[in-house]
Amino acid sequence: MQEEMRRYSAKLREAGNLPIEARVGVNTGEAVVRSIATGEGHAEYTPIGHSTSLAARMQTLAPTGSTAVTDATRKLCEGYFTFKPLGPTRVKGVHDPVNVHEVTGLGPLRTRLQRAAGRGFTKFVGRQAEMEALARAGAQARAGRGQIVAAVAEPGVGKSRLFYEFKVKNQSGWMVLEAFSVSHGKASAYLPVIDLLHGYFRITGDDDSRMRREKVMGRLLALDRSLEDALPYLFGLLGLVEDSDPLVQMGAQMRRRRTLDAIKRIVLRESLNQPLMLMFEDLHWIDDETQALLNLLADSIGTAKVLLMVNYRPQYTHSWGRKTYYTRLRLDPLGQENADEMLSALVGDGPELVPLRRLVLERTEGNPFFIEELVQALFDEGVLIRNGAVKVTTSLSQLKIPPTVQAILTSRIDRLPPDEKELLQTLAVIGREFPLGLIRAVTGSPDDRLEPMLSHLQLGEFVYELPAFPDVEYTFKHALTQEVAYNSVLMERRKLLHERAGEGIEALFAEQLDDHLNELAHHYGHSPNIVKAVKYLQLAGQQAAQRLAYDEAVSHLTSGLELLASLPDNPGRARRELELQLSLVESLRWTKSLGSPETRRALIRARELCGQVGESTELFAVLMGLQGHHQMRLDLEPARELGEQLLALAEGANEPAKLMFAHAALGLFFLSAASSLPPATISSRPVLALIGGRATLSSLFTLSTRALALGRCGRSVMRTRRLRGAARRSL
Ligand SMILES: Nc1ncnc2c1ncn2[C@@H]1O[C@H](COP(=O)(O)OP(=O)(O)OP(=O)(O)O)[C@@H](O)[C@H]1O
Ligand SMILES: [Mg+2]
Repeated sequence: MQEEMRRYSAKLREAGNLPIEARVGVNTGEAVVRSIATGEGHAEYTPIGHSTSLAARMQTLAPTGSTAVTDATRKLCEGYFTFKPLGPTRVKGVHDPVNVHEVTGLGPLRTRLQRAAGRGFTKFVGRQAEMEALARAGAQARAGRGQIVAAVAEPGVGKSRLFYEFKVKNQSGWMVLEAFSVSHGKASAYLPVIDLLHGYFRITGDDDSRMRREKVMGRLLALDRSLEDALPYLFGLLGLVEDSDPLVQMGAQMRRRRTLDAIKRIVLRESLNQPLMLMFEDLHWIDDETQALLNLLADSIGTAKVLLMVNYRPQYTHSWGRKTYYTRLRLDPLGQENADEMLSALVGDGPELVPLRRLVLERTEGNPFFIEELVQALFDEGVLIRNGAVKVTTSLSQLKIPPTVQAILTSRIDRLPPDEKELLQTLAVIGREFPLGLIRAVTGSPDDRLEPMLSHLQLGEFVYELPAFPDVEYTFKHALTQEVAYNSVLMERRKLLHERAGEGIEALFAEQLDDHLNELAHHYGHSPNIVKAVKYLQLAGQQAAQRLAYDEAVSHLTSGLELLASLPDNPGRARRELELQLSLVESLRWTKSLGSPETRRALIRARELCGQVGESTELFAVLMGLQGHHQMRLDLEPARELGEQLLALAEGANEPAKLMFAHAALGLFFLSAASSLPPATISSRPVLALIGGRATLSSLFTLSTRALALGRCGRSVMRTRRLRGAARRSL
């Protein structure tokens, strides 16, 4: 762009006009685009977010006539472009200085596969059937029965790699010509064809116009002098016309037809010398002219030694399907075995890598590009390190989607019609799987509107239907698609959709809410309805504890407590908090132990809350917990005080169960205190007086533990005396 601008400016200057110069700033990151109706049915789009303001900042930093990019952009484009560092710069709103780079020109890379090659290809796995199909088509083409082979698959599944492997295996005896399309290529006529011709005529970026003309002429005439009349068309196409264009008088249609015909003749003539492998990548991006050339070639190679290999993503269609010499290869993501093999090559087989490998497989579902990128991102972020063998350094829970993968998924979602995109986003908020009834409840749309959209989303392989009874159920085909769609929903709308999903579940499963507590806690937890969020987090937490899933219980209850804090402070809130804190203590004693600081914090807060609520039933339980806590930590004074408080409470209430617990607590205290308290303390009160006349089981427990404690004291006093005596004797 800048080069074009410079050329154009030079022309302006020559004509005595003022030149034009542009400063461009680029950044890469997530942005949300809001549409604003401007009246008369028009809408304007405003991107919002940090990524865009950083791009704007780059623009102000770019030297005039140049393009400045952030480090994030440079990382993604390295190799496709060349850069010069402009150094770190402070940017408002960003903590660390941002590294700025100036774009200095085009780099050597054109495709993602070439870039992957730079990183070193992952060992090629699977795809035997496809390789065999290609080999068969190759053999036919060699024998003069031209073939077209199309590889069709979603991005990253391995179309280009398959072609590459086939090309490498079949290099000898073939002439290989390749053409690449680029995502912005639809608007640039002939881009892949020009690419192909540059390859054929061995034209490089450094060749000037004269050199280029010579190369084209030399090679064409050496091929066949009778092709000389094709030269003006080639020069025209390659931008090599000198002073006067001999074709200037010709109508555009005629000129186009003859240009295409010229290329076809070169291809067919060249295939007489040796078989020709023509590869056209990424047809979903091609322009109309290149498409016209492909149609022409497809019609004419049936009896030539030409193997025309094309690949594209499923949204693209063409008209060669009925030809007898056409083969379509549909590539699926790698199966479990091949994906495993690929991961072994990437990270190794160590037993400690099993959870990591499982996680990567789950998230990527066999898409080799996603596998590579996810593993690379883990290395980049330091989660994985290669130190001889690969090691996992931190928790895997924070696995982020790499921007390269995100870009692919986002662009697929963005291509959907607006109402389907909105539906997909809503589905993403509902979850990975969802029954039709719930979709109905959340969207409020009638079936005759929903069903065509859902079937289109199925055709596009975003979601698929699960066999379910009695309701139809859908699931996201790809966990990552769901995540990206979810992240693309604006926060406010997201909250609203979560609330509607919660309400939908409540209505739909009113009879079996217990089976849906986790989902309800999740949806209300992300909605503006905090009261319901707390309610379901508490219920989900208690259910998890019943199932002995204490970690999960702690996480639900802690989230519930955090949300509760944002509600107005009143007795109702205090009561709810007390319940949550008590449930939390019950789970914490398993995940952390009764003696842990976390448990103490919860207990102390619960004691405060009992004061506020004025409840003694819970107070007894809280004090029991606290007494046990101090007892475990051998904080003897508080343990004793709390034990006596418990006994006083129990006596006041005159409840046998409480009495038993209080005695048991005191009894345990005496037992643990025996070795550290002087015997006098233990026997200071007449034991029988303590329990009065009521010789219950619990008081007997206190009694017996006191006796045991006294016995221990006695023994240790004796032992000390004996030792002292022995020591004296030995002196
Ligand atoms: N069978 C395979 N074994 C090992 N690695 C593979 C395999 N298939 C693909 N890959 C790797 O996965 C990455 C993506 O593959 P590739 O570029 O061929 O995908 P694609 O289908 O052409 O995607 P796009 O539609 O975006 O062009 C590449 O780095 C490639 O090396
Ligand atoms: Mg490709």
